[in-house]
Amino acid sequence: MERTLSIVKPDGVKKGVLGEVIRRFQAAGIRIAAIKMIHMTKAEAEGFYAVHKARPFFSSLTEFMSSGSCVVMVLEGENVIRKNRDLMGATNPKEAAAGTIRRDFASDIEHNIVHGSDAPETAAFEIGYFFNALEIH
Ligand code: CMP
Repeated sequence: MERTLSIVKPDGVKKGVLGEVIRRFQAAGIRIAAIKMIHMTKAEAEGFYAVHKARPFFSSLTEFMSSGSCVVMVLEGENVIRKNRDLMGATNPKEAAAGTIRRDFASDIEHNIVHGSDAPETAAFEIGYFFNALEIH
């Protein structure tokens, strides 16, 4: 059994696709172990994306991520890191496979609707960034 962090980003919340994203997770047999709506400050978004600090898109990305409400979730299941990434599709929606969340709803590489942890170590950091043990069920 594995856990991963999912974020429905401000563009996903504004476009009203939160329900559809959750529906796809559950249809794929993924269990939601925790969920909440947040609105990050720029500093909180910078802390979350600290690994991307040196990237040219860091400032714009953290501005976007703090521009509105996000929904953060802990997903649980067998191979859930991989399963979630398959459901999301490639970072760039233009490269994402048909039927994936990003291909269906994202407008561009930055405004790409969802985030998902890419490995067990990043999942542990990212889950701990938003949830304490008592909030995960
Ligand atoms: P995410 O999976 O949340 O991880 C890092 C985010 O940075 C990524 O999704 C995109 O939103 C953003 N990102 C990645 N590459 C680029 C890029 N080349 N230009 C702008 N934003 C990017």
